[in-house]
Amino acid sequence: MRTASILDRVSGLGSDKWRVHFLARQMKARGESVILLTIGEPEQPTPDELIEVACRALRAGRTGYSNGRGEPAVLQALSARYTRRTGRLIGTDQFIWVPGTQSALYLLLMGLVQAGDDVLVADPCYATYHGLVRATGARLVPVALRPERGFRLDADDLARAVTPATRLIFLNTPHNPTGAVLGRSDIRAIGQVAKAHDLWILCDEVYESLVFDDPDTGVPPTPFASPFDEADLADRTVIAASLSKSHAAPGFRAGWAAGPSDFIAKLLPLAESMLFGAQPFIADMAAEALAREFSVTGQMCQTYARRAAHVAQQLDPVPGLRVHRPAGGMFVMVSVDELGLDGEAFAMRLLNEAQVAVMPGCAFGQASAGMVRLSLTVADEALEQGCERIAALARSLAAV
Ligand SMILES: Cc1ncc(COP(=O)(O)O)c(C=O)c1O
Repeated sequence: MRTASILDRVSGLGSDKWRVHFLARQMKARGESVILLTIGEPEQPTPDELIEVACRALRAGRTGYSNGRGEPAVLQALSARYTRRTGRLIGTDQFIWVPGTQSALYLLLMGLVQAGDDVLVADPCYATYHGLVRATGARLVPVALRPERGFRLDADDLARAVTPATRLIFLNTPHNPTGAVLGRSDIRAIGQVAKAHDLWILCDEVYESLVFDDPDTGVPPTPFASPFDEADLADRTVIAASLSKSHAAPGFRAGWAAGPSDFIAKLLPLAESMLFGAQPFIADMAAEALAREFSVTGQMCQTYARRAAHVAQQLDPVPGLRVHRPAGGMFVMVSVDELGLDGEAFAMRLLNEAQVAVMPGCAFGQASAGMVRLSLTVADEALEQGCERIAALARSLAAV
């Protein structure tokens, strides 16, 4: 029977990218002592207070249908939060509440691009972006990130990649997998490219809360910046975010799409066609989460920054390895290509010979094919042991 071409376009672009992770999980299930440094799932528990809010809401019968845009309390909380962040009045009509950043990205891309359009995306990028863009029918045009710029997307590189078909610049800051954080000047320069070619900017801000402080000054060298916060870019910017990382709550699937109110109004029927609203008891929890600060957010940020420094200390001196220190996020990239093999071959040998699972760089794009990505979301001891095994494999490879 015939199926729609969208299925061919996304074939192999879903969970296949996590092959090493799934192999490692199978090994673990067989009783092998595998260390998983693959995915970015906070190891901290979701704050008790939030679990309590969700439980109370469940018991209070908040289990009925919602509406397509979102529960009023959570939309109010988003409006307040983004009004504070941007210094402009951001109305509740600028949001749609959806199950996680991933569905916000899908919804926004479906509403903005289609077959015949080009989308500029950093290479490397989060592993689902290839499937997201391909699903729309648009072409993903990779723009290589350069290690010497700390992997911060360069506006001139972006401008050179623009074609007459380009419709959208797809940003992610802090960036997965590299941990690069775009500064305000980067955003302004990228905004100039968007304006010059009349492009949309889509910004994935799921890691907004994870920008690392400088250990000496206690403030981030590059504070978080967003095109949504720039008044002259706001009418061409849409954002996707969630509580998955900031509140250690990925299983709640609590996220949102935001943008100019006229575009969001047009997008709403598409969201309703797919979702017809989300769970009221989760919206109650999210409204509470967004209304104030939770200590888990800062704790995670400090923990990942400290672990990133530790990984660099352990692995940078090892011949053939090069650690790219992240400025934020949950991951650290390590170049392995000087050892004479690419990231995928290294990851497979590491799994089979040393029982450590890392993500091969090719899952994120061609520009990172010579790297592997390590997650910082595992306990200190396991991470240290994982790094010891990585160092041992690298030393044995360098010796031959
Ligand atoms: C860059 C990026 N975007 C989106 C997501 C998905 O986030 P969510 O759990 O909110 O769907 C992730 C998850 O790892 C991510 O790294």
